[in-house]
Amino acid sequence: MQFGHFDDARREYVITTPRTPLPWINYLGSERFFTLLSNTAGGYSFYLDARLRRLTRYRYNNAPLDSEGFHIYVKDGESVWNPGWQPVQADLDSYVCRHGLGYTVIEGAKGGVRAEQTLFVPLGGDCLLMRLRVTNESGAEKRLSVFPYIEFCLWDAMDDSSNFQRNFSTGEVEIEGAAIYHKTEYRERRDHYAVFWADRVPDGFDTAREKFLGTYGSPARPAAVFGAGCTGSVAHGWQPIAAQQFDLTLAPGASETIIFGLGYVENPREEKWEAPGVVNKTRAREMAARCASPAQFDAALEALAAYWDGLLGRYQVSSGEEKLDRMVNIWNQYQCMVTFNMSRSASYFESGMGRGMGFRDSCQDLLGFVHMIPERARARILDIAATQFPDGSAYHQYQPLTKKGNLDVGSGFNDDPLWLIAGVDAYLRETGDFGILDEIVPFDNDESLSQPLLEHLRRSFRFTKTHLGPHGLPLIGRADWNDCLNLNCFSEHPGESFQITGPSEGPVAESVFIGGMFVKYGRAWAAICRRVGLMEEADEAEAAVSRMEQAVLTAGWDGAWFRRAYDAFGQVVGGKECEEGQIFIEPQGMCVMAGIGKDSGQAAQALESVKERLDTKYGIVLLQPAYTRYHLELGEISSYPPGYKENAGIFCHNNPWIIAAETVVGHGDRAFDLYSRIAPAWREEISDLHKMEPYVYSQMIAGKDAKNFGQAKNSWLTGTAAWNFYVISQYILGVKPDWDGLKIDPCIPAGWDGYKISRSFRNAVYDIRIENPGHVCRGVKRVTADGREISGNVLPVFSDGRTHEVVVTLG
Ligand code: GLC
Ligand code: GLC
Repeated sequence: MQFGHFDDARREYVITTPRTPLPWINYLGSERFFTLLSNTAGGYSFYLDARLRRLTRYRYNNAPLDSEGFHIYVKDGESVWNPGWQPVQADLDSYVCRHGLGYTVIEGAKGGVRAEQTLFVPLGGDCLLMRLRVTNESGAEKRLSVFPYIEFCLWDAMDDSSNFQRNFSTGEVEIEGAAIYHKTEYRERRDHYAVFWADRVPDGFDTAREKFLGTYGSPARPAAVFGAGCTGSVAHGWQPIAAQQFDLTLAPGASETIIFGLGYVENPREEKWEAPGVVNKTRAREMAARCASPAQFDAALEALAAYWDGLLGRYQVSSGEEKLDRMVNIWNQYQCMVTFNMSRSASYFESGMGRGMGFRDSCQDLLGFVHMIPERARARILDIAATQFPDGSAYHQYQPLTKKGNLDVGSGFNDDPLWLIAGVDAYLRETGDFGILDEIVPFDNDESLSQPLLEHLRRSFRFTKTHLGPHGLPLIGRADWNDCLNLNCFSEHPGESFQITGPSEGPVAESVFIGGMFVKYGRAWAAICRRVGLMEEADEAEAAVSRMEQAVLTAGWDGAWFRRAYDAFGQVVGGKECEEGQIFIEPQGMCVMAGIGKDSGQAAQALESVKERLDTKYGIVLLQPAYTRYHLELGEISSYPPGYKENAGIFCHNNPWIIAAETVVGHGDRAFDLYSRIAPAWREEISDLHKMEPYVYSQMIAGKDAKNFGQAKNSWLTGTAAWNFYVISQYILGVKPDWDGLKIDPCIPAGWDGYKISRSFRNAVYDIRIENPGHVCRGVKRVTADGREISGNVLPVFSDGRTHEVVVTLG
């Protein structure tokens, strides 16, 4: 069952009922100001950091669901409704929500009145813009009132939702003409405020929630809307809001348009006030003047569309397979932008309070983003590296506002350092900008500890190299990629964090997965060394990589698949002798991607075992058999009920590792089959089961051991986005940026006749036609560029601002 459909020409997902299985959201803004917006106009805004600069309040895990946001009430006589249905939930005569790239349009009609709400964050602007268009479609004159309503958050979302003894006394606002200023804490240390404005002076307003909703009122039945109108309240403490009232008289067929904005403004310290106690509003007025008129609104919306044309245009496929084109050309890339911006901080599953930018997460997000805006990827790499500890290890996350590492989820995840090499490697391939290696970057944000980025990579590599266990495999530390494989934790008390309890690193517990990473990214490090002339260091690195490869092939090999780890007692994790958890997905994917066992046949055998033991119709589960009881020596992984999350869920993030691995051994049919099992566009028809948005990947789909097999959770913020784009664009469709050119090496289903790709790469456009007359999965027979044959399969760096015609014949 579907709740809408794709409109590829407009690059929108069109939701045709407000009663989606869960709120289906969009992200507005891709620079500094962000808004999460659901299909019924729920959501919230923040500036840079969802925890520290939250502009509007949102109550997670509340009932009814999703009742705070950017709602507009229409009052037509006795009838009160919202164009997005929520929160009043009055039945509508028609409803549609179009989630597009950086904007959303919600339209509802009732009783002869149509109301359309269009929201987006303009490029370069620190504000959300919202246009309301109300049309009288009846045959008689209509006297209506419309009321926009938002609830302010007192900046620090964590404090806002817990520290009521203080916060009920601090709220302050100012009202001036068509604008309401939220200035809580501005009197003392803050030099920022929020402003809600309209393009005309309203007929009424409220800024105290209690007055607008009523003391026991709710957003579903605001006293002011259902009663006598806004009261002109001025908030002192309690809950400051912005609500306005506009009384409209519409002749039959007539429309009225009102433009609203919600902005964030910072004032220099010396310009905080315009009079004692009165906020200096100059910047807010300028902001509103830049975008308050309908023409400015339209121009900003067009600029946004042009911006996305440019970004997505850098990689476009035309395959004849509608779902594939829609994922690659639109939604997967769009999601990569969102994960780049948010890391794992703010979604409808991540509260914006708990997790900032993840070290390993943000490094991996670069894989799907770097081709779009390499300059932003570059800046991100330097930010991440600046949080690294001098010994090469890392804070697990950092705060986007301060860019400083925090210990909320600790450190000592021993895979973290190697992901920095992965991110930088992807950047170097995309740009050829080896100059980045000379950038001087602090350790632990301490300028006195600054070193070139190259030294950061060296320490990443060295950290793993010097933290080996009894089998010569890397020590796992608190956990590796799998945050829940806590082999040194031994938590026996509820409430303890699995990620920060116990010694950070035991001397025994080892990870085969990190061993695979060390081979893959250690080789990348060695190649970088060679490129910059460090020949001896490159040789040493390669020798260490070879030793690791041997350790993985011996101590890490179980007979038919790669083992997962050794626990703190030296017992195998992920081996046939285990009672539960005999085989795990991660080492099969990572080790084969690293090429381990490719020649000896172990790689193909490991993948065969995945097929036999981990495959399901909805994707590959993380492990089997699922843990049915808590294993003290394994930690959080065994705390989840079977089939969920890391305990045998279909953890979508590492499915693409298997897809990539299948291409390493040349299985194009299998690779694409796996790709299509978890890709959202293919799951659209089962939206009632899937539950999450059919246009983006979710972190997890419940596995076969779960009651809700096939149901997804944690949409949007997942490494699945970057990895799937990376794998489909580079490993399957086979256009791989390389240091000295664009390498063409597809691995596709044998049945495909061919396809076209347009790829911008280092200031040139490559128009590539791939032909598969012999119906093979892999193998490039002939390549021509601009009519001339090329030897090998690496297209040169043209860098001439032109378009080049490339024809590739497989066979
Ligand atoms: C979450 C985390 C990611 C981790 C994964 C597996 O998605 O964001 O860092 O690798 O879970 O535990
Ligand atoms: C939980 C989740 C995991 C996530 C981790 C972050 O353990 O299961 O997916 O990565 O929290 O701390």
